[in-house]
Amino acid sequence: MNVLLAVDNVRVARQLEAGLLKAGHCVEFAETGRKRIFLAAIETYDAIIWNRNLPGRIAGIGVVSTLRSSSSEIPILLISEPAAASERERDQIDGRADRDDDPAQFAELLAWLDVLIGPPRGWSPDAGQRYESLRSGNRERIRAQTRLEETESMLAQVQRLSETESWWWNIETGEISPALKAGAMFRILAEGSPKQTISGLLDAMHSDDRARVSAVISAAIEERQDFDVQFRIVDEDAVRHFRTVGERRRNESGDPYYLCSSMDVTGRERRKEALRRAEAEIAHLARVHALGKFTSSIVHEVNQPLSAIVTYGTAALHWLHRDHPDVDEASIAMNRIIRDATRARDVVTRIRRLSKNGLPQKSRFSIAEIIEETLTLLARDLHTRHITIEYAVSHALPEVSGDRVQIQQVLINLILNAIEALEAVHSQIRAITVLAETVNAGQLRVVVRDNGPGVAHDARERLFEPFFSTKDEGLGMGLSICRSIIQAHNGALALLSTEEPGAAFEFVLPVTQTA
Ligand SMILES: Nc1ncnc2c1ncn2[C@@H]1O[C@H](COP(=O)(O)OP(=O)(O)O)[C@@H](O)[C@H]1O
Ligand SMILES: [Mg+2]
Repeated sequence: MNVLLAVDNVRVARQLEAGLLKAGHCVEFAETGRKRIFLAAIETYDAIIWNRNLPGRIAGIGVVSTLRSSSSEIPILLISEPAAASERERDQIDGRADRDDDPAQFAELLAWLDVLIGPPRGWSPDAGQRYESLRSGNRERIRAQTRLEETESMLAQVQRLSETESWWWNIETGEISPALKAGAMFRILAEGSPKQTISGLLDAMHSDDRARVSAVISAAIEERQDFDVQFRIVDEDAVRHFRTVGERRRNESGDPYYLCSSMDVTGRERRKEALRRAEAEIAHLARVHALGKFTSSIVHEVNQPLSAIVTYGTAALHWLHRDHPDVDEASIAMNRIIRDATRARDVVTRIRRLSKNGLPQKSRFSIAEIIEETLTLLARDLHTRHITIEYAVSHALPEVSGDRVQIQQVLINLILNAIEALEAVHSQIRAITVLAETVNAGQLRVVVRDNGPGVAHDARERLFEPFFSTKDEGLGMGLSICRSIIQAHNGALALLSTEEPGAAFEFVLPVTQTA
């Protein structure tokens, strides 16, 4: 048989040649691993012995892949230097090479050559049969191997396309490993990473996420549950978001492990972030627009204490300039100046807060306080329009958690809508009722009701659509913004259907759990 010996190490090559010649084979040499030589070799030779580390690569396992993709079934033996022992072991476990031998073990190597390409001469029919069956078994194995490789590469492509990566997590040892080699969405799952452990993964996370993720997975282990968690991986200043689900399983020996799948949701998170910004921007514009509608109230709210300050200041001077200055009376006037200056400053602070642009900020606050503040801000407008306010708010209401400015914006929008609706009312008292109460223990309910003309039947469905307005100068954004704000606070906003004339809008918010 003709054997191609693609081995550059002269010592090894000579030894092999001697052995092969002795066994009656013909031997030719190739010293570099060029693909052309290799493909030509398939036509010419009965077997190939290829050095894994042959210069000019095609080296190593690439030979086998190229060979299999050429659909040739020519037997191939990979040999390698002892230094590459670990690599050799791996490829053999994977079944990628027919045989991968230490060149020192020539006897065994030659025996394998016998099995793969048959004895060179003087072979008995019995040996021939054995050889044939081995060879066809080998063919089967190669086919199965090819199918497996195809499936694996397809799965890898699916992973890449769906931006997911699957990995195992050995709970006992803490080791994690990619389920498919082609993965490595996380750097630490990439081949050769020294930190393939769950704590290595936690280290790679954004520091703000670590404690939370650690708590989630510890709880999952404790409760023998699956888990679903999202975190950010920081990789050379780039931040990527991953949603990871872990399914608890057991191996053959009954030890639990997690099969995890991580999906790159960075794009989705970025879009969400952009949307949040755009929404905040629109909400801000709408707030400024709404502020413009009650400037007379605002001006009044600031002017009133300022006028009072002037009056008390004059009085204080008066008490001090008397022949016998009355310090007590002057002090009283001074205290009133301070009180009113504080009031004016508070109004300005509130207006500034409402007119400021920025992303939502979470805090805990009292809804009663916001309602009162809002009614104070709107007081002048309510007064000049002869609107009476009925106000039923319990001060013992639990706090809500969320963005204070946004919730106030909802109240302002609802009350402004009520004020605008009441413009159509001339024959009776104009009234707005604001009610706040706890319902179902965990929820807070706020209702803004007016006795205006109410909402036309065909408009009921469309009220919350952006840009829907029945007003000549309406933006139509008020209710749509209100609804998205309330929804972002895990609540709900709706128009109530009432028997009474007028309109009533209700929003319900979850109440902050007091720890
Ligand atoms: N209290 C109310 N009474 C009657 N109709 C209302 C009331 N509040 C809202 N609407 C109706 O809903 C529409 C949308 O309201 P909104 O989104 O605040 O936009 P805008 O106030 O700019 O018109 C209004 O144009 C009006 O037809
Ligand atoms: Mg409006």
